[in-house]
Amino acid sequence: MCELRRLRFAGGAAGANPASTTHAARRRIIELERYDPPGSDPFGRHAMPPALKALLAQLAGLAAAVALARTGALVGLWPLVSVQALIAATVAAGLRSARWWLPIHLGFLPLAVVAHGAGIHPGWYLAAFVILVLVYWTSFRTQVPLYLSNPATAAAVGKLLPAHPARMLDIGAGTGALLRPLAQARPDCRFTGIELAPATWAIGRLLLRRHANIEWLRGDLFSADLSGYDLVYAFLSPVPMAAVWAKASAEMPPDSTLVSNSFEVPGHEPDAVIDVGDRRGTRLFLYRMGARGERRSG
Ligand SMILES: C[S@@+](CC[C@H](N)C(=O)[O-])C[C@H]1O[C@@H](n2cnc3c(N)ncnc32)[C@H](O)[C@@H]1O
Repeated sequence: MCELRRLRFAGGAAGANPASTTHAARRRIIELERYDPPGSDPFGRHAMPPALKALLAQLAGLAAAVALARTGALVGLWPLVSVQALIAATVAAGLRSARWWLPIHLGFLPLAVVAHGAGIHPGWYLAAFVILVLVYWTSFRTQVPLYLSNPATAAAVGKLLPAHPARMLDIGAGTGALLRPLAQARPDCRFTGIELAPATWAIGRLLLRRHANIEWLRGDLFSADLSGYDLVYAFLSPVPMAAVWAKASAEMPPDSTLVSNSFEVPGHEPDAVIDVGDRRGTRLFLYRMGARGERRSG
């Protein structure tokens, strides 16, 4: 964070002469801003990481249940488990956790107790944990979970590809669900997917092995170079969109298009919005690039 502040300060001081902010410095700012975008601070000084909120909520529930058990005010396993779950959910709500955390808090200890009663071998929990870690990897930090684009969305994105042989990149490519149908439909185009989570990437590698026009990379989308693509596709979450925009507008070439599935870039009007017409109500937000670092007008 110190480095980010120093670079931002140097960039501000260079305001009178923007040329003195080097390209390398700008790329480093974008890389550092990915989890600390200007104007929002989801993981910085003022916001608590969601995983820490969840831990605090669970511990608060446990502390309350233990205190009630000790005083004898509440007896029996299920009343105590229920109190733990209710208090955990209430504390999570008080900490402004996302709404989907509440059913998790309500169900966590009750399900653990039921599973314990069913005599399931602890090795299964470990196996489930390892699989979830390999699939979701840094989701607790990036706040970008795994969900896949459907065939209707792939068809809609296919219509956005230029008629000439083009290059397209999916940043956060999951298992390649979007790239597979596109690569089949457009053998004249080159497709690249970059994915961070090891298990998801490995599944993609297996599923895409027969597609010669797909390049499948494991890595962080913020380390990818966006300068060689006619279309960049993002299906992420609201959290990284400001940083994605900063990177895209600094690196994508003129007349290329950033397509974001479901999540708008904060503070920037899209050039077009496409309703895919699927049951999920998918909307694609299109941002056309002009000269480096600018939006195309019209
Ligand atoms: C919502 S899924 C979209 C998958 C795919 N693009 C699709 O449309 O089917 C988002 C994916 O982005 C990956 N991801 C999240 N942050 C990333 C990062 N910084 N670099 C690379 N991949 C990332 C997640 O692991 C997840 O697989």
